[in-house]
Amino acid sequence: MKKNQIIQSFKEIFGGEFRLFSAPGRINIIGEHTDYNEGFVMPAAIDKKIWLAIHPVHGRKASIYSVDYDETSAFDLDGDMSELPHWALYPYGVVKELQKKGCNPGGFKAVFGGDIPDGAGLSSSAAIECVFGTALNSLFDFGLDKLTIAKVGQLAEHNYAGVRCGLMDQFASMHGKAGHVIRLDCRSLDYEYAPLELSGHELILTDTRVKHSLASTEYNHRRAACEEGVRIIASNMPSINSLRDLRPKNVLPYKDILGEETFLCCEFVTEENERVLETVKALESNDLEKVGHLINASHRGLRDKYRVSCPELDLLVETANTVDGVLGSRMMGGGFGGCTITLLKTSSTDKYIKVTQAAFHESFGSEPVYYKVSISNGAGEEMTG
Ligand code: GLA
Repeated sequence: MKKNQIIQSFKEIFGGEFRLFSAPGRINIIGEHTDYNEGFVMPAAIDKKIWLAIHPVHGRKASIYSVDYDETSAFDLDGDMSELPHWALYPYGVVKELQKKGCNPGGFKAVFGGDIPDGAGLSSSAAIECVFGTALNSLFDFGLDKLTIAKVGQLAEHNYAGVRCGLMDQFASMHGKAGHVIRLDCRSLDYEYAPLELSGHELILTDTRVKHSLASTEYNHRRAACEEGVRIIASNMPSINSLRDLRPKNVLPYKDILGEETFLCCEFVTEENERVLETVKALESNDLEKVGHLINASHRGLRDKYRVSCPELDLLVETANTVDGVLGSRMMGGGFGGCTITLLKTSSTDKYIKVTQAAFHESFGSEPVYYKVSISNGAGEEMTG
């Protein structure tokens, strides 16, 4: 088990005492690219995690071994980030963002790694940020709450990994609750836990195992398009601050001024927000057929309007919908690769796997990977060794 490997590596490399923390990856039922538009999302933390064994040391040095990259990196807490391997930018970014808040971690030695597949859109980077944020907060008694740690992680992503992400991933990794989805309003940051009861149905993730290289550039472009749309519309409607303030019918009159691309992005976000609210209602009344339709509609919007899908994801979604017992399927997360999330009858799962595997192999010559995940708690301390 990965957790034991992390502990073992710490003992071999550094030896002595340590504390063990973990932070999970996430799924998102619906509400994609809405978080940075102050909209609604419905994520949940999963039982795939990053574990971190850590112990403070005297001095101003952080020494970190990544089990997954089989590489050690050390940096001066007051130094710059040049020459750090890419994976080390996340812990480095967390340290820097903590410092900006006046929280000054001391030196530490650490080993981390996990079982969240890289590039699968399950937010392994948010989990790394959250596990370091949680551990350093605890080790050095900063007294930060979960939301502040989530925001530190988000800023690390913006300023050191270069992705201007929303808060969904870090929020879910910090606030996850076993068996529950989080209904999060990304404007007020109010949230509620809702039990996910899928009576006779389940969610399955299907990993394309592709990550197209433009993913983070395109992500930032989409975010910029939304901001541009808001700027243009706000010059006529000064009361609006974000796409959250608009319904699809409010965007339509601006179609020509916005231009095709920006218009479609804005329209998608306003529609996706409505779909999240409809999904909340459908889940409350146990109308899973309806949830499935909304999930399918979300995929069409992500593919045709927001244009963040890719052939591998589209093929999986299309094939999924040919299988009896599949209620809905869509790409999940930022897009351009990673996983689909599919709601289906538990009794149809074997058929689903067989059919999608064959179709995927025929088109792309490779096999997707299937994950059944269970919904778990957020970041925290697991043990002391
Ligand atoms: C990535 C980002 C999130 C969110 C999703 C799309 O996972 O990190 O903030 O924007 O994409 O919904």
